[in-house]
Amino acid sequence: MAIKPALAEAINDQIRAEFQSAYLYLQMSAWFTEQNLPGFAHWMRTQWQEETLHAMKLYDFVHQRGGAIVLGGIDAPVGSYANPLSVFEKVREHELMITDRINALYERALTEKDLPLQIVLQWFINEQVEEESQVMEIIDRLKLIGSDGPSIYLFDRQLATRPAATAGEGA
Ligand code: FEO
Repeated sequence: MAIKPALAEAINDQIRAEFQSAYLYLQMSAWFTEQNLPGFAHWMRTQWQEETLHAMKLYDFVHQRGGAIVLGGIDAPVGSYANPLSVFEKVREHELMITDRINALYERALTEKDLPLQIVLQWFINEQVEEESQVMEIIDRLKLIGSDGPSIYLFDRQLATRPAATAGEGA
């Protein structure tokens, strides 16, 4: 069954939000590189990849359902931060906003009785739980160790081991 145009439009707006997330995390990755924290930069660059996969998962879904892709504009992200903790607090704030959006879209899929969209969004609902939890873990660790000193370099080495985003992880 073809997707209703109004629903396709709402998904297009979520595609825009996922690309906005990717763009934000790429900017954060650059900031970490410039602070000589390559492990944090790697973690953010992996998150950029993941967000791109999220956008493309919705993009492919719209086409599979006979809808049209209309890409919206994305804003320039903030490029400078006080310290690593403030970066991750911004990530948390951003992801809570994304969770609200996904939940609202899911409510809409329920109202419109669009079962395939509900199934796709259930994957995103789980993904948001995972992302929020990962970010909270990093925030808790940063609060414990502070933003400078040897511990931050050890943590940086740990974040450098994050595996690349794959289709399984992001799509
Ligand atoms: Fe696409 Fe960070 O959620």
